Amino acid sequence: MWIDSHSHLNDQAYQDDYPAVIKAAVDNGITAMLVVGYDLDSSRRAIALAKEYPMIWATVGVHPQDAKSWNTDAAAELTGLLAEPKVVAVGEIGLDYHYLDSSRDEQLKAFLEQIQLAKEYNKPIIIHDREAHQDTYTVLNEGKLGPAGGVMHCFSGSRELASGFLKLGLHISFAGPLTFTNAEKLRSVAAEIPLNRLLVETDCPYLTPHPFRGRRNEPLRVALVGEKLAEVKQLPVDRVMEATIANTKALFRI
Ligand code: NI
Repeated sequence: MWIDSHSHLNDQAYQDDYPAVIKAAVDNGITAMLVVGYDLDSSRRAIALAKEYPMIWATVGVHPQDAKSWNTDAAAELTGLLAEPKVVAVGEIGLDYHYLDSSRDEQLKAFLEQIQLAKEYNKPIIIHDREAHQDTYTVLNEGKLGPAGGVMHCFSGSRELASGFLKLGLHISFAGPLTFTNAEKLRSVAAEIPLNRLLVETDCPYLTPHPFRGRRNEPLRVALVGEKLAEVKQLPVDRVMEATIANTKALFRI
Protein backbone atom coordinates (compact mmCIF):
# COMPACT_ATOMS: atom_id res chain seq x y z
CA MET A 1 0.00 0.00 0.00
CA TRP A 2 1.18 3.47 -0.92
CA ILE A 3 -0.16 7.00 -1.29
CA ASP A 4 0.74 8.94 -4.43
CA SER A 5 1.15 12.40 -2.92
CA HIS A 6 1.48 14.18 -6.27
CA SER A 7 -0.23 13.09 -9.48
CA HIS A 8 -1.68 14.94 -12.44
CA LEU A 9 -4.62 12.70 -13.28
CA ASN A 10 -6.18 16.03 -14.29
CA ASP A 11 -3.78 16.12 -17.28
CA GLN A 12 -5.22 15.49 -20.73
CA ALA A 13 -2.90 12.47 -21.00
CA TYR A 14 -5.63 10.62 -19.03
CA GLN A 15 -8.65 12.17 -20.72
CA ASP A 16 -9.68 8.93 -22.41
CA ASP A 17 -8.85 6.31 -19.78
CA TYR A 18 -8.64 7.87 -16.31
CA PRO A 19 -11.19 5.41 -14.80
CA ALA A 20 -8.96 2.48 -15.87
CA VAL A 21 -5.81 4.22 -14.59
CA ILE A 22 -7.43 4.88 -11.20
CA LYS A 23 -8.78 1.33 -10.99
CA ALA A 24 -5.33 -0.11 -11.80
CA ALA A 25 -3.83 2.02 -9.02
CA VAL A 26 -6.41 0.91 -6.47
CA ASP A 27 -6.06 -2.75 -7.55
CA ASN A 28 -2.30 -2.43 -6.98
CA GLY A 29 -2.66 -1.14 -3.41
CA ILE A 30 -2.57 2.63 -3.92
CA THR A 31 -4.89 3.72 -1.13
CA ALA A 32 -5.01 7.45 -1.89
CA MET A 33 -3.95 9.86 -4.61
CA LEU A 34 -3.56 13.62 -4.56
CA VAL A 35 -4.42 15.30 -7.85
CA VAL A 36 -2.40 18.50 -8.07
CA GLY A 37 -3.55 21.60 -9.94
CA TYR A 38 -1.15 23.70 -12.03
CA ASP A 39 -3.55 26.37 -13.32
CA LEU A 40 -7.20 27.24 -12.72
CA ASP A 41 -8.63 24.73 -15.20
CA SER A 42 -6.55 21.82 -13.92
CA SER A 43 -7.42 22.82 -10.34
CA ARG A 44 -11.14 22.64 -11.17
CA ARG A 45 -10.56 19.27 -12.84
CA ALA A 46 -8.73 18.02 -9.72
CA ILE A 47 -11.76 18.97 -7.60
CA ALA A 48 -14.11 17.19 -10.01
CA LEU A 49 -12.03 14.00 -9.74
CA ALA A 50 -12.00 14.27 -5.94
CA LYS A 51 -15.79 14.52 -5.97
CA GLU A 52 -16.04 11.46 -8.21
CA TYR A 53 -13.61 9.20 -6.31
CA PRO A 54 -13.42 8.66 -2.54
CA MET A 55 -9.66 7.90 -2.61
CA ILE A 56 -8.76 11.13 -4.44
CA TRP A 57 -8.01 14.54 -2.89
CA ALA A 58 -7.40 17.77 -4.77
CA THR A 59 -4.95 20.65 -4.55
CA VAL A 60 -5.33 24.01 -6.29
CA GLY A 61 -2.68 26.42 -7.51
CA VAL A 62 -0.97 28.21 -10.37
CA HIS A 63 2.40 26.75 -11.45
CA PRO A 64 5.35 29.16 -11.95
CA GLN A 65 5.34 28.47 -15.70
CA ASP A 66 1.84 29.94 -15.79
CA ALA A 67 2.59 32.78 -13.36
CA LYS A 68 1.99 35.39 -16.05
CA SER A 69 -1.72 34.51 -15.83
CA TRP A 70 -1.77 35.37 -12.11
CA ASN A 71 -3.78 38.52 -11.36
CA THR A 72 -6.55 39.66 -9.01
CA ASP A 73 -9.21 37.72 -10.94
CA ALA A 74 -7.14 34.53 -10.76
CA ALA A 75 -6.60 35.10 -7.04
CA ALA A 76 -10.35 35.52 -6.46
CA GLU A 77 -11.07 32.38 -8.45
CA LEU A 78 -8.44 30.36 -6.57
CA THR A 79 -9.83 31.60 -3.25
CA GLY A 80 -13.24 30.24 -4.26
CA LEU A 81 -11.73 26.86 -5.13
CA LEU A 82 -9.93 26.70 -1.78
CA ALA A 83 -13.25 26.61 0.01
CA GLU A 84 -14.36 23.45 -1.83
CA PRO A 85 -14.48 20.20 0.15
CA LYS A 86 -11.54 17.80 -0.39
CA VAL A 87 -9.14 20.62 -1.34
CA VAL A 88 -6.21 19.85 0.94
CA ALA A 89 -3.38 22.15 -0.21
CA VAL A 90 -2.27 25.08 -2.34
CA GLY A 91 -0.05 23.88 -5.17
CA GLU A 92 1.80 23.36 -7.12
CA ILE A 93 3.39 26.76 -6.71
CA GLY A 94 6.99 27.92 -6.72
CA LEU A 95 9.79 29.02 -9.01
CA ASP A 96 11.05 27.52 -12.27
CA TYR A 97 14.02 29.22 -13.88
CA HIS A 98 14.43 26.46 -16.48
CA TYR A 99 11.49 27.71 -18.53
CA LEU A 100 11.08 31.46 -18.35
CA ASP A 101 7.69 31.68 -20.13
CA SER A 102 6.79 33.74 -17.08
CA SER A 103 9.43 36.20 -15.87
CA ARG A 104 11.16 35.80 -12.52
CA ASP A 105 9.20 38.79 -11.18
CA GLU A 106 5.88 37.31 -12.30
CA GLN A 107 6.82 33.96 -10.72
CA LEU A 108 7.86 35.55 -7.46
CA LYS A 109 4.62 37.54 -7.21
CA ALA A 110 2.41 34.50 -7.91
CA PHE A 111 4.42 32.39 -5.45
CA LEU A 112 4.28 34.95 -2.60
CA GLU A 113 0.58 35.69 -3.03
CA GLN A 114 -0.37 32.01 -3.13
CA ILE A 115 1.71 31.34 0.00
CA GLN A 116 -0.30 34.13 1.62
CA LEU A 117 -3.59 32.53 0.51
CA ALA A 118 -2.47 29.18 1.92
CA LYS A 119 -1.77 30.87 5.25
CA GLU A 120 -5.20 32.52 5.31
CA TYR A 121 -6.87 29.17 4.67
CA ASN A 122 -4.43 27.26 6.89
CA LYS A 123 -3.45 24.86 4.10
CA PRO A 124 -0.03 23.31 3.44
CA ILE A 125 1.75 24.21 0.20
CA ILE A 126 3.24 21.99 -2.52
CA ILE A 127 6.41 23.61 -3.79
CA HIS A 128 7.90 23.28 -7.27
CA ASP A 129 11.55 24.40 -7.39
CA ARG A 130 13.42 23.89 -10.64
CA GLU A 131 16.80 25.56 -11.02
CA ALA A 132 15.67 28.19 -8.52
CA HIS A 133 16.98 26.68 -5.28
CA GLN A 134 18.41 29.84 -3.74
CA ASP A 135 15.39 32.09 -4.38
CA THR A 136 12.94 29.39 -3.25
CA TYR A 137 14.86 28.95 -0.03
CA THR A 138 15.08 32.72 0.53
CA VAL A 139 11.31 33.21 0.07
CA LEU A 140 10.44 30.37 2.46
CA ASN A 141 13.10 31.33 4.99
CA GLU A 142 11.94 34.91 5.31
CA GLY A 143 8.99 33.83 7.42
CA LYS A 144 6.69 33.24 4.49
CA LEU A 145 5.72 29.68 5.39
CA GLY A 146 2.48 29.19 7.35
CA PRO A 147 2.11 26.78 10.31
CA ALA A 148 0.42 24.18 8.06
CA GLY A 149 3.84 23.64 6.44
CA GLY A 150 4.41 22.12 3.05
CA VAL A 151 6.43 19.79 0.89
CA MET A 152 9.32 20.21 -1.54
CA HIS A 153 7.90 18.16 -4.41
CA CYS A 154 10.19 16.04 -6.59
CA PHE A 155 13.22 17.22 -4.64
CA SER A 156 16.35 17.58 -6.77
CA GLY A 157 18.73 19.66 -4.63
CA SER A 158 21.81 19.04 -2.52
CA ARG A 159 22.17 17.68 1.00
CA GLU A 160 22.74 21.23 2.32
CA LEU A 161 19.60 22.50 0.64
CA ALA A 162 17.55 19.57 1.99
CA SER A 163 18.80 20.29 5.47
CA GLY A 164 17.81 23.97 5.09
CA PHE A 165 14.27 23.06 4.02
CA LEU A 166 13.97 20.49 6.82
CA LYS A 167 14.92 23.18 9.35
CA LEU A 168 12.08 25.31 7.98
CA GLY A 169 9.72 22.44 8.87
CA LEU A 170 9.12 21.29 5.32
CA HIS A 171 8.67 17.72 4.14
CA ILE A 172 10.70 16.35 1.23
CA SER A 173 9.13 14.26 -1.54
CA PHE A 174 10.82 12.02 -4.09
CA ALA A 175 9.55 10.86 -7.48
CA GLY A 176 10.77 8.70 -10.37
CA PRO A 177 14.22 10.35 -10.70
CA LEU A 178 15.22 8.55 -7.48
CA THR A 179 15.15 5.30 -9.49
CA PHE A 180 17.12 6.57 -12.51
CA THR A 181 20.37 4.70 -13.11
CA ASN A 182 22.48 7.89 -13.02
CA ALA A 183 20.91 9.27 -9.81
CA GLU A 184 23.53 8.18 -7.26
CA LYS A 185 23.87 11.71 -5.90
CA LEU A 186 20.12 12.14 -5.41
CA ARG A 187 19.97 8.74 -3.65
CA SER A 188 22.76 9.79 -1.28
CA VAL A 189 20.73 12.91 -0.40
CA ALA A 190 17.56 10.83 0.16
CA ALA A 191 19.44 8.45 2.46
CA GLU A 192 20.04 11.32 4.92
CA ILE A 193 16.46 12.58 5.21
CA PRO A 194 14.63 11.54 8.38
CA LEU A 195 11.90 8.99 7.76
CA ASN A 196 9.26 11.16 9.46
CA ARG A 197 9.69 13.92 6.85
CA LEU A 198 9.57 11.83 3.65
CA LEU A 199 6.82 11.56 1.06
CA VAL A 200 6.64 9.64 -2.23
CA GLU A 201 4.93 10.64 -5.47
CA THR A 202 4.82 9.99 -9.20
CA ASP A 203 4.25 13.49 -10.70
CA CYS A 204 2.55 11.41 -13.41
CA PRO A 205 2.25 11.57 -16.42
CA TYR A 206 5.89 12.71 -16.16
CA LEU A 207 9.04 11.20 -14.65
CA THR A 208 8.21 7.51 -15.13
CA PRO A 209 10.43 5.38 -12.86
CA HIS A 210 13.09 2.99 -14.14
CA PRO A 211 12.65 0.50 -15.88
CA PHE A 212 9.54 1.99 -17.52
CA ARG A 213 11.08 5.31 -18.68
CA GLY A 214 9.66 6.50 -21.97
CA ARG A 215 6.13 5.34 -21.17
CA ARG A 216 3.33 7.38 -19.65
CA ASN A 217 3.61 7.36 -15.85
CA GLU A 218 0.71 6.32 -13.58
CA PRO A 219 -0.01 6.44 -9.82
CA LEU A 220 0.56 2.68 -9.40
CA ARG A 221 4.25 3.24 -10.20
CA VAL A 222 4.72 5.12 -6.92
CA ALA A 223 5.54 1.68 -5.48
CA LEU A 224 8.83 1.70 -7.44
CA VAL A 225 9.77 5.03 -5.85
CA GLY A 226 8.90 3.77 -2.37
CA GLU A 227 10.83 0.53 -2.83
CA LYS A 228 13.90 2.45 -4.03
CA LEU A 229 13.62 4.77 -1.04
CA ALA A 230 13.57 1.75 1.30
CA GLU A 231 16.66 0.40 -0.45
CA VAL A 232 18.64 3.65 -0.14
CA LYS A 233 17.63 4.06 3.50
CA GLN A 234 18.39 0.38 4.18
CA LEU A 235 15.01 -0.09 5.80
CA PRO A 236 12.28 -2.71 5.32
CA VAL A 237 9.81 -1.65 2.58
CA ASP A 238 6.94 -1.96 5.10
CA ARG A 239 8.47 0.68 7.33
CA VAL A 240 8.86 3.18 4.52
CA MET A 241 5.34 2.40 3.38
CA GLU A 242 3.84 3.01 6.81
CA ALA A 243 5.89 6.14 7.41
CA THR A 244 5.17 7.81 4.07
CA ILE A 245 1.45 7.07 4.42
CA ALA A 246 1.40 8.51 7.95
CA ASN A 247 3.42 11.59 6.87
CA THR A 248 1.15 12.27 3.89
CA LYS A 249 -2.01 11.90 5.96
CA ALA A 250 -0.69 14.17 8.69
CA LEU A 251 0.57 16.90 6.33
CA PHE A 252 -2.60 17.06 4.22
CA ARG A 253 -4.98 16.09 7.05
CA ILE A 254 -6.65 13.36 5.02
NI1 NI B 1 3.70 18.23 -10.69
